[in-house]
Amino acid sequence: MAHAVDAHERRLHYGHAGAVIWLTGLSGSGKSSLAMGLEQALMRLGYSCYVLDGDNIRSGLNSDLGFGDADRSENIRRIGEVAALFADAGLVCITAFISPFLADRALARARCKQGFHEIHVAADLAACEARDPKGLYKKARAGQLPSFTGIGSPYEPPVHPECVISTGTEALSDSLATLLDYVRHAVPLAR
Ligand SMILES: Nc1ncnc2c1ncn2[C@@H]1O[C@H](COP(=O)(O)OP(=O)(O)O)[C@@H](O)[C@H]1O
Ligand SMILES: [Mg+2]
Repeated sequence: MAHAVDAHERRLHYGHAGAVIWLTGLSGSGKSSLAMGLEQALMRLGYSCYVLDGDNIRSGLNSDLGFGDADRSENIRRIGEVAALFADAGLVCITAFISPFLADRALARARCKQGFHEIHVAADLAACEARDPKGLYKKARAGQLPSFTGIGSPYEPPVHPECVISTGTEALSDSLATLLDYVRHAVPLAR
């Protein structure tokens, strides 16, 4: 059955359209830091938004999935579906996953009826490996994480992202300001 509430009514309710802000980039590039900062900044401006990140997805909805290619694709497929539902509900859904494969991100975009914004969180491998906030690169170099993105498994960068944030060369506060500016223009507040 169709919803009795349409997209226009939801937009009036929230004061903005629903959208997916899809962050993609290597481990350690700054996706989670930017996502959490963006969520807080948007909420303080009056947006209704929510971050999907490893912690609230891998532990529950996708707890049955591992890190092989097929499971990685299924992980992103489910995240794309959930993000599309959040956007359909009228929220700004921010996702913070490596999402290394072009085809998986294209599917997420195709499944999203509201605005889909692919944000390349662009820090090169050397910068991410130097940061190594979770010690994962060290483990991957030691052969303990065989399909780690950037080392044992490829990262396919976006071809036509809506926005690129140079997180390898600038301060987090500058990256966040650029991203916030992008989202405020792309998903304007009506009130
Ligand atoms: N411009 C920047 N944007 C985002 N993070 C940055 C930036 N500069 C340095 N960092 C740091 O890099 C690390 C990125 O970690 P995290 O956000 O967990 O990355 P990811 O979620 O992509 O794996 C954090 O310690 C963050 O403070
Ligand atoms: Mg993260």
